Amino acid sequence: MADRAPESLEEKIEERLRYYEDLGIRLFYRDRTPAAATSFVPTASTVAPTPAPEENSLPKSIAKPLPPKAAAVAATPRIAPVVAPSGPSLFESVDKIKDDTLPRIREDIGDCTRCKLHKGRNKIVFGDGSPKAELVFIGEGPGADEDQQGIPFVGRAGKLLTQMIEAMGLQRRDVYIGNVVKCRPPENRAPEPDEVATCSPYLLRQIDVIRPKVIVCLGAVAAKTLLETTRGISQFRGQWLEWRGHKLMATYHPAYLLRNPNAKGEVWKDLQKVMAELGLQPPKKSKSS
Ligand code: URA
Repeated sequence: MADRAPESLEEKIEERLRYYEDLGIRLFYRDRTPAAATSFVPTASTVAPTPAPEENSLPKSIAKPLPPKAAAVAATPRIAPVVAPSGPSLFESVDKIKDDTLPRIREDIGDCTRCKLHKGRNKIVFGDGSPKAELVFIGEGPGADEDQQGIPFVGRAGKLLTQMIEAMGLQRRDVYIGNVVKCRPPENRAPEPDEVATCSPYLLRQIDVIRPKVIVCLGAVAAKTLLETTRGISQFRGQWLEWRGHKLMATYHPAYLLRNPNAKGEVWKDLQKVMAELGLQPPKKSKSS
């Protein structure tokens, strides 16, 4: 016989769910697998532990869903000014190349030895996904699994990124995924400035070819590289920024989420803004899942 929660508990759960809904978190999975710690869509236990307001302390006006017009205004991106680079721009010399293509960029990279990262790499990780993607994700650089397979984000962090993409109602083949550097830094260290300066112009060409509506920078390295800023990612995470004619949003890296599952709620909020911008609906949950 299926256990039913006592009525008072049901009410409490309902109230808590309404609270999460007001925060913009609407999808909840009951994850029965032991890998729950690596699933993406925030559950009550993975949402940052914001204290629930006392029952009567929440003004009625914010407890209600926004009326359609106000919701539309809330979904309109707030484009903050791009942080101006202090010195010469990394990307100044990267002009748009007429009739550039992804295969041509790959060909130009060749069997690259332009920076020291080539010494330890197995495979160049060029990028993966749709050349017509409206949404591009940019990570930091390949890890061990990516270096072996030549495909970005295929390790543990990659599996979480795939879940994030699917939670948005997309498949990996619908988006494009790239990295600031295309060869694995030793011991997975952060890429160094000379490596970033050598490699990132190719990423820029890739973005220029794809012309996505939205770029999501995964983590500080991607965000700081594209925005050419030294500001900490938490200062602009989740805000719409304008970058070379694209809407750019920085959020936490999936590897950070593996270590800090409580931050998944923040990232989910960021991705929901991206979904609103792209007119995406989360997939309908099947009864059996
Ligand atoms: N982390 C990254 O930033 N990129 C990858 O491709 C894999 C892990």
